[in-house]
Amino acid sequence: MILERQNMLNIHQIEKELGEYSNREEIRDISELVNYYQLCHSAVGEFGTKLENLDADYQVRHNHNPIHHIEVRMKDVGSLLEKITRKGLPVKFESIKDNIYDVGGLRVITNYIDDIYTVQDNLLAQDDVTLLKQKDYVKNPKESGYRSLHLVVTVPVFQSDGVQVTPVEIQIRTIGMDMWASLEHKLRYKTDEPAEKVAEYSESLQDYADEINKIENNMQEIFHNL
Ligand code: GTP
Ligand code: MG
Repeated sequence: MILERQNMLNIHQIEKELGEYSNREEIRDISELVNYYQLCHSAVGEFGTKLENLDADYQVRHNHNPIHHIEVRMKDVGSLLEKITRKGLPVKFESIKDNIYDVGGLRVITNYIDDIYTVQDNLLAQDDVTLLKQKDYVKNPKESGYRSLHLVVTVPVFQSDGVQVTPVEIQIRTIGMDMWASLEHKLRYKTDEPAEKVAEYSESLQDYADEINKIENNMQEIFHNL
């Protein structure tokens, strides 16, 4: 039994409370966004279950589990608006639905580099999962040094009146890649220092990413040899 229910918005309630205003385009847009946000939340739940099932399967039947841990997040509305504005898109629900694939996101942290592709293959082998986009920043790291495998995948979400195939973004990376990305992100975006000052460190940060990569390759080799 579900003991905790999220306090989601109810579209009929909003329409009732807004009365005549509820026919305005902006308000209808908000209703559609609430609806879509809930769908993406459900899609994240579907993938969360898939990944937990894989994790359990590896625990029980294998002597190596590629998954270290899994994180989930929903993009907050502020970041959604920031992203469509940054992309030069009109501030409308359709801009979000047609262009933003990471309203719902999961991150799978793996133990070794090869494990990234094992997790990808395990997910894509599932009949109800479709790959929409793939960006392999493990084979082709970003100039910053960032490494990660990004997938946009869809899954059917079964609703009271039918099925909605819904996208989510899954980032798959090792513990080392995650450590680097998490600290680099904080250094880059969470500081009040001017961008030029942060840029002075970009070469060092790239070097550290390469060093971590070397260490992870070496440790993976030990794992294969043992
Ligand atoms: P946006 O999602 O609009 O940023 O564009 P995109 O989807 O084309 O970009 P990308 O595939 O690079 O994915 C963006 C996400 O990857 C960001 O939200 C970060 O989580 C992560 N990311 C990309 N580049 C970096 C980087 O240089 N450093 C860190 N720490 N994270 C990065
Ligand atoms: Mg993205």
